Amino acid sequence: MFKRLIRYCSICFFLMLCAIKGISQNAQQIGLAKRTKESFDFNWQFHKGDIAIKRAVKAAGYGGLTDVNVKVETNKEVVIAYTDVDKAAAFKAEDWKEVNLPHDWCVEGTFVNDNSIGSQPAANGYLPGGIGFYRKEFEIPETDKGKKISIEFDGIFRNSTVWVNGQLLGNHQSGYTPSNYDLTDILRYGNEGKNVILVKVDATEYEGWWYEGCGIYRHVWLNKTNQVHVDRFGTYVTTPSISTDEAAISIKTNIKNELGVVKNITLTSKIVDNKGVVLDTKTSSQAIEPFSTTEISQKGTIQKPLLWSPETPNLYKVLTEVSENGIVIDNYQTTFGVRTIEINRNGVFLNGKLYPVKGTCNHQDFAGIGVALPDKINEYKLKLLKEVGCNAYRCSHNPPTPELLDMCDRMGLLVLDENRMLSSSEEGKNDLTTMLYRDRNHPCIFMWSMENEEPIQGTVTGARILKTLVDITHKIDPTRPVTAAMNHGRNDGGYSDVLDVVGYNYGDKGLAYVKDHEKYPNRVEFCTEATSFVSTRGEYNNDCGKGFVSNLGLWQPNWGPLPGEDWADIVKYPYLGGLFVWTAFDYRGEPTPYQWPCVTSHFGFMDICGFPKDGYYAYKAAWTNEPVVHIFPHWNWPGRKGDSIQVHCYTNCDEVELLLNGKRISMQKAIPYTKLIWKLVYKPGKLEARGYKGGKLVTTDVVETTTAPAQVGLNSDCTTLKADGCDVAVIKVSIKDSKGRVVPVADDLVTFSIEGPGKIIGTGNGNPSSHEPDKASQRKAFNGYCLVLVQSYKQAGEIKLKAFSKTLKGDELTIKVQ
Ligand code: GAL
Repeated sequence: MFKRLIRYCSICFFLMLCAIKGISQNAQQIGLAKRTKESFDFNWQFHKGDIAIKRAVKAAGYGGLTDVNVKVETNKEVVIAYTDVDKAAAFKAEDWKEVNLPHDWCVEGTFVNDNSIGSQPAANGYLPGGIGFYRKEFEIPETDKGKKISIEFDGIFRNSTVWVNGQLLGNHQSGYTPSNYDLTDILRYGNEGKNVILVKVDATEYEGWWYEGCGIYRHVWLNKTNQVHVDRFGTYVTTPSISTDEAAISIKTNIKNELGVVKNITLTSKIVDNKGVVLDTKTSSQAIEPFSTTEISQKGTIQKPLLWSPETPNLYKVLTEVSENGIVIDNYQTTFGVRTIEINRNGVFLNGKLYPVKGTCNHQDFAGIGVALPDKINEYKLKLLKEVGCNAYRCSHNPPTPELLDMCDRMGLLVLDENRMLSSSEEGKNDLTTMLYRDRNHPCIFMWSMENEEPIQGTVTGARILKTLVDITHKIDPTRPVTAAMNHGRNDGGYSDVLDVVGYNYGDKGLAYVKDHEKYPNRVEFCTEATSFVSTRGEYNNDCGKGFVSNLGLWQPNWGPLPGEDWADIVKYPYLGGLFVWTAFDYRGEPTPYQWPCVTSHFGFMDICGFPKDGYYAYKAAWTNEPVVHIFPHWNWPGRKGDSIQVHCYTNCDEVELLLNGKRISMQKAIPYTKLIWKLVYKPGKLEARGYKGGKLVTTDVVETTTAPAQVGLNSDCTTLKADGCDVAVIKVSIKDSKGRVVPVADDLVTFSIEGPGKIIGTGNGNPSSHEPDKASQRKAFNGYCLVLVQSYKQAGEIKLKAFSKTLKGDELTIKVQ
């Protein structure tokens, strides 16, 4: 009897094993596997200039794939290259250069003042755009057969057309929204051969009036999933009710079945905290019809939720698992936060409390690299913003790269996410919906902007288009208010009535929003753009020829107040909710108030390298509790001894005392958000400002007359880099005198040499009229500073960077790559 039982059990066990094995074999056969998201940034080839493309349908023969013959017009001869690698013999690698992404070919160009070749002051800052091609060969293993494989371009500037293995996959116009192509059918698997992707980028037209770059300037991903999977941007996590005890979490998951049979799946959603501890799990079973997408709604809870805010950027995740017959066939992650946001006629309320928004507007580019920013540089820029006390970021005037939003979630910055075009065409609506679906889970985003300063603001037609976009936005994301950044027409054509929040760009230096607040009792206002102060770092005279604007405010646009004064309005009229300063960083293009030879804007309170200008301290004083006293100009004025000179000071202290060479000039009472000014007789030496709060000395600032440049100083923001081919060290270079003081007028040329597993990816100096190449291993200092960016290879070791300058003592530093 006992023996029979054993035999019976063994048979059962054996059958069970067979069943499990059968399921998993079956699983493998139909390509069941969890999703992967692989970086597709490395090993591309780039060709600058147009290439005539012919579809050689007949040449390729019927039954085979259509090849794309790529004619590379060179001076020598017409070279025929093929995207089909089988014909690769004809492809001439020397016509292409090796690049990794993100890549911006525009910043590699030469500044030229010639409109006939697409060189304009605003668009791309006198760097011509044009056409470029990217090409990459890659292999797909046999084991990927049966998976759904797609490629996601986070952003290409602009008008991109994509072919894979000779097949035209499609075209995407916008330079700011992502594009995605399904490669499943066209790929060659395993022994079928190599694959070739070809991307044409036509940046001959512009979308904006600032530097927009050219090329595949954001990341590219190869996504592999099961045929049944969470759809692209397929989850929507919201928090319908929040109390100190509990947050209700709504999870909507779109499951896509790309097969011709019904699929019975189980969806498990786990809510986890930032340590991965599971707080709630919800499971649902659902039949997904063939070739269709089904939304599944689940509701979870978090007990005693930790709220998200810029000061406490607490995050949670929903971990999604899709399974079939007990086997996980897809997994997906959605980061979210628990917070409430309300904007009304009393201001912006975050988690129920009035929360004045201390924001800056930002374009995408940076010194040395154009718009092709490695993640580290975006992070670096955000870190600088946090340091000045900024709590919000406006992506003017376009949706940002998705990593930037992850960083704002993580680092704590509210975001005003902005649609590029006011258009209700199919393309316009697609761009808007892509932004909304892509971004709506980010807790950092507190409001959507439909457009910026479109000429048809305040018209009936404009209002109709706007309404279409606002309706779409409310439907896709009912949790956030919608605004538009307006510089005119706020009271015309019913335009403002369509919006939840009317965005004021400048608002006649404050008069418009104050008047309108009283006149329109239902209007909710927000200051979407403020200031526009122009200055060149370290300059104290306007110089038309050189393209420099003084930091002393000798000229400023008539549409914006002085740095800091804009904040006084927010304090006075808290119903404005806050503001976005135009801009935190200088950017290429829009060189107001000049044109050629000036190629970069002057609007930033930091230059394009992130070096602070004097205006930076107006915001630091207004936005932080740190005691701030900042005096300017510098104190190197040879030949001006005995002249009358003005000393300006940004401070948040009660009183500031000024001393020259130890002798008290005077003590001044500070008026909040207003610059202090002294007039004195210039004498070289040491000028010192002492800041007092409640009668106590809390901080000092010193400017000193230096001696001649004597040495170069290198200062890296990090001592180690990841060996991932992406990480970047931001290295500040300064020119110092023999006592180690930065010489504020020094413009010495610095040459760099680098050894070890890394390379220089760009240089900059903040001079808005510099025509030196950014992609070089040398740079002139500008008013004491320049910058060099060093990127690691995918290889561990030690990078040694050396800096030389003709008559000066050099410097060197070491960075570990691991
Ligand atoms: C605003 C505009 C910005 C920038 C700025 C310069 O009107 O929205 O893009 O041009 O002016 O002051």
